[in-house]
Amino acid sequence: MELTWQNSFPGVWETFIDPPRHTLTEFSGVPPATSLRYASPLPRPERISCNKVGHHIVFRIPLLPNEYLFGGGLKFQRVSIDSEVYHLRMDHSSGVDNGCSHVPTPFVATTAGFGFFCDTIDDVSLYMATAQRYKDKDRIIERDRTTDDNWRCNNPPYFMEIAVNAPGVKAVIFQGESLRDCICRFNLYCGGGFLPPKWGLGVWHRTNIKMDARQVQELAADYKRHQIALDVIGLEPGWQSKAYPCSYDWSKERFPDPADLIGELKKQNIRVNLWENPYVSEHSSIYQELKRLSGSHLVWGGIVPDYALPETRKILKKHHEKNHLDYGVSGYKLDESDGYDAWLWPDHAEFPSGLSGKAYRNVCGVLFQRFTTEMFKARNQRTYGLTRSSNCCAVSFPCILYNDRYDFHEYVTALCSCCFTGTLWCPELHDAKNAEDFLRRMQLIAFSPMVLINAWATELRPWMFPEVETAVRQVLELRQQLLPYLYTAFARYHQKGLPPIRSVFMDYGYYLQTDNSAGKLDATKNPYQVVNEEDINDQLIFGDSLMVCPIAPGTKERTVLFPPGNWYDFYSGQLISQGKDRQTFPVDINTPTPLFVPENKTIPLLGKDKQWTLRSFGPDPEPVDLYEDDGESDLYLRGQFQWFRLYPDGRREQIQKEDAQ
Ligand code: GAL
Repeated sequence: MELTWQNSFPGVWETFIDPPRHTLTEFSGVPPATSLRYASPLPRPERISCNKVGHHIVFRIPLLPNEYLFGGGLKFQRVSIDSEVYHLRMDHSSGVDNGCSHVPTPFVATTAGFGFFCDTIDDVSLYMATAQRYKDKDRIIERDRTTDDNWRCNNPPYFMEIAVNAPGVKAVIFQGESLRDCICRFNLYCGGGFLPPKWGLGVWHRTNIKMDARQVQELAADYKRHQIALDVIGLEPGWQSKAYPCSYDWSKERFPDPADLIGELKKQNIRVNLWENPYVSEHSSIYQELKRLSGSHLVWGGIVPDYALPETRKILKKHHEKNHLDYGVSGYKLDESDGYDAWLWPDHAEFPSGLSGKAYRNVCGVLFQRFTTEMFKARNQRTYGLTRSSNCCAVSFPCILYNDRYDFHEYVTALCSCCFTGTLWCPELHDAKNAEDFLRRMQLIAFSPMVLINAWATELRPWMFPEVETAVRQVLELRQQLLPYLYTAFARYHQKGLPPIRSVFMDYGYYLQTDNSAGKLDATKNPYQVVNEEDINDQLIFGDSLMVCPIAPGTKERTVLFPPGNWYDFYSGQLISQGKDRQTFPVDINTPTPLFVPENKTIPLLGKDKQWTLRSFGPDPEPVDLYEDDGESDLYLRGQFQWFRLYPDGRREQIQKEDAQ
């Protein structure tokens, strides 16, 4: 099939295969960010072929030698995705990376700076570096596994094939100068990253589901007593008169005067965030209005309003504005929208907008983010919240992803892999086996987009393990000092599309040596002798350049795979690696999270006294650029922000947005 690619923005081409279908991006209502125009084009759309096969449209893309693949939705096991197959579907993660994901983004990016995006809500399957065809000119040579030592289960030449189960589709390709540049273009194309309010980057505590207003006040007082700054209290289901399904009305018993409570907390600089799920109780004050705008099936006995209808969003907005925002609520957490197996409407459910149950499942979380973001925007107020389902088109909505799984390694992998999905991931602290487990998890959430203690089912508090209290305070203080640095990283997300937290592969490419020898045969662990292709799923880049290597609970050593270049230890300032090596460090309970800085970088820390400490590394340290605005309104969208440059010798200079690094 002949494809016509329109060069819609520098480095971005679109093609439309008829008949027109719903796109993902139409559900956010957000156009591409205009700053996409800053980049220069490097076209190569001719790589792609396409044909229709039965009900599928299949795109086929040959890969270059040493071109590695990333993306395909949020992952919990691996970051690189070569030789994998994913059937994308909105769902909770079950611990297996098979395409079922809280963020099933139909986008793949490569180390050659190439990206391919199916802008669709239809089913997409990704065959990554696997799909070889009989008619290929250089097709693989068959070998006998029993006699030929060169037999491999994966062989070049490699292709990716992307199959869309629909009669029509919109596809978009991106070509950047690098993987990182490609991701920036992708994020800008989807609307540009969000900028959270400054308070959102502080400490969050979500309360036990049965907590009442008095207990919430006590919680705030406890934090004060322990001298830990608390920025947001998240009220879990019990704030409502009914939950599972929800009323979105306050419980008169537990929260008789919500405006007073929220006002009191606000005086202490604590915001309130409300939990909800999309299922509406017949006891809700808006049940009758929403009934005729809901899908055919019930979830937990509640109706499922169709957020795709503007009328539904209008009713919900009106109710939320009057009953929550007017009282001072700062944002929301949308739970249970991903489809934890049975806890959702079926795929064949019908919705009044005409979307199938399956299609609605893909966009429900996005539409929730859309209407909540719009409510705050109308008040010139920023919000920050959580959602359990999303997609890349929500990149400009200030919500991050979470789930109920609690595996430390999965959490770190998700933090690394989310940068390829147009969303951000948030590990949380909700339980701890012992003091060390608690500390390691606390140290992890301190380097995430939200410092989230989610005590919805426990009584967890930051001071509950006295033996690690000092270490907990130290990491929270470091987070506090790094806030301007992190906030600047979010400004880059917004202005340039660069995610604030990234896989090391995004900044340094696939820098590992690949070994083409067969993997070790093991009938259980490696029956296909899969080639040892290494992944890095436990190191991340936080902000501009800091490499964070979280320590998993219960471990006695930490191995780090250093990217190219000289690397310095953040704490001691010493040169640790000259790059591309593997080092293992012993760790014990007193070891803080290993942090490494590339040569000549400067990390700015802001003290409680508002004085800067600049930590520079290497012989010729560069200045550091920082972003500043009022931190909570939308005036930055109208140009009310500034960039400034801090030099290692303490000089400060105002710079233009275009000059900011
Ligand atoms: C879970 C959610 C938790 C908490 C809980 C409340 O589904 O993941 O974070 O909100 O519901 O019932």
